[in-house]
Amino acid sequence: MAKILVTGGLGYIGSHTVVELIQSGYEVVIVDNLSNSEKTVLDGIESITGVLPAFEELDICDEKAFQNCMTKHAKIDAIIHFAASKAVGESIEKSLDYYRNNVFGIIQLLSLMRNNNIKHLIFSSSCTVYGQPDKLPIDETAPRKPATSPYGNTKQMCEDIITDAITSYHDFTAILLRYFNPIGAHPSAKIGELPKGVPNNLVPYVTQTAAGIRKELSVFGDDYNTPDGSAIRDYIYVVDLAKAHVKAMQRLLACENKKEIEIFNLGTGNGVSVLELVKTFMNATGVNLPYKIVGRRAGDTEEVWADSSFAEKELGWTAKTPLTEVLASAWNWEKKVRGIK
Ligand code: NAD
Ligand code: WQD
Repeated sequence: MAKILVTGGLGYIGSHTVVELIQSGYEVVIVDNLSNSEKTVLDGIESITGVLPAFEELDICDEKAFQNCMTKHAKIDAIIHFAASKAVGESIEKSLDYYRNNVFGIIQLLSLMRNNNIKHLIFSSSCTVYGQPDKLPIDETAPRKPATSPYGNTKQMCEDIITDAITSYHDFTAILLRYFNPIGAHPSAKIGELPKGVPNNLVPYVTQTAAGIRKELSVFGDDYNTPDGSAIRDYIYVVDLAKAHVKAMQRLLACENKKEIEIFNLGTGNGVSVLELVKTFMNATGVNLPYKIVGRRAGDTEEVWADSSFAEKELGWTAKTPLTEVLASAWNWEKKVRGIK
């Protein structure tokens, strides 16, 4: 049984991935500083899987604590690195915090991997690296566009740092996973997304509005060059996304990939507009969702969706879950968190 260290394993995508790893037979060690998660997520993971994974509460930027963790849990076969700060708007206000956590974090991680002879890494990247692409759907050969936020910059920098480290040392392999828009919650409603404060992302705002916590959803723009005028994204179910990490891990550990570094887009291949998502949510849940059209949000792109055929071909992975089911899972989770029957 391979032992996988998961940084940020109590966060939104990390916790769902930990569940899939455990259910696929991996031993998991979670590292998280709880800066954007709760320790109670461990209970949800245990309740779903019947396994309580090892958990170390520490900051990955704390070299001594992280080294102690690696010594304690030796021997680690691979790392999945989710731990990062992820709010685009906040990154503009607090750019140095973002560079410190995300960029210093990956340097620290790669250095400790070398010191501890850990040879495999999966990194959480983002479709944000593509900006507004020249053609759709976006495949992995599409050029990266200049980042429009410090957050986006950190993802590009981390990709470059991993690539350069592999070129320098040739002693490990990595897979960069570029996620599109992850949404939804585990079907058990025992884990899900836990945004702090007012959500920036669409689906948590939708579910909080449906729960009566927000008065109405603001739809940012209906004057885009799209069929209904609202912006288009590729919304991918977080459980499907989590399963892709298991496939990527199997590939890394089997060394099936001859290349030292590989990049995969993880999306559904379907573009969905904001207004389509709102209507699908209402149909899926039977809940009326008050919304109004407002101006565009600064920095938003018009339309983005993935070509994930490389992941399908090489990892044997596709995102299968219908959007109605995904939005119902998000609503079930919100109801559970709010105590709504
Ligand atoms: P999240 O905030 O829910 O999870 C990140 C976890 O990392 C949190 O539990 C947080 O407490 C922890 N963490 C942060 N900094 C840490 C540090 N220095 N040391 C230890 N733990 C630390 O975020 P998420 O949505 O699960 O995202 C996971 C990864 O995927 C991030 O790297 C993010 O940039 C990337 N990503 C997310 C999205 C998205 O829309 N959610 C899209 C593309 C890429
Ligand atoms: C989706 C659509 C909004 C809220 C972000 C990051 C990206 C990646 C995924 C990490 C857009 C519209 C939203 C609202 C709205 N994360 N919207 N009303 O901006 O596509 O991507 O998350 O890597 O880097 O930028 O996701 O969920 O914020 O927005 O109309 O209240 O919903 O304008 O068209 P986005 P989102």
